[in-house]
Amino acid sequence: MRSRNPFVTQGYIDPAHFCDREVETRQLLDDLSNGRHVTLMAPRRYGKSGLIQHALRTPEADCVFVYADLLATTNQADFVRVFANAVVGALDSRLEKAASTFAAFFKSVRPKMKADSDGGVGNGRRAMSCMTACLAST
Ligand SMILES: Nc1ncnc2c1ncn2[C@@H]1O[C@H](COP(=O)(O)OP(=O)(O)OP(=O)(O)O)[C@@H](O)[C@H]1O
Ligand SMILES: [Mg+2]
Repeated sequence: MRSRNPFVTQGYIDPAHFCDREVETRQLLDDLSNGRHVTLMAPRRYGKSGLIQHALRTPEADCVFVYADLLATTNQADFVRVFANAVVGALDSRLEKAASTFAAFFKSVRPKMKADSDGGVGNGRRAMSCMTACLAST
């Protein structure tokens, strides 16, 4: 069986693989919620990209997060391609999440009809509130 290297050397993985930077994360989230533009400056490989990805993936960020690395772009066409791919990728993952929430909802639906004593049929109010909760969570 192939073993996996536990030492991550590239890119941001998840909060469990990200150390410290708690003050900086708070500061970035504060800037975000106050609509401030931020420029992060540090020597190479200090963790600028990791910090941005970490902060913007926390639930507090509550935003659609588009990450585009423009370092390798050399002209306007490159910039547009990289930026457009990043936007589409971010929206895709949002749509995928919505689709899987809907799929889970419809899988969990068990149609049930019940006649009332006056001959009417139950109005499915519970299903509606479940669907509303589902939509709110996307
Ligand atoms: N807080 C951290 N905890 C764990 N690993 C980190 C942390 N910060 C950075 N790293 C790791 O260090 C490496 C460099 O981080 P990152 O790419 O974020 O740096 P950078 O400042 O954006 O670099 P560059 O100047 O090349 O763009 C990556 O492998 C990243 O996963
Ligand atoms: Mg970087």
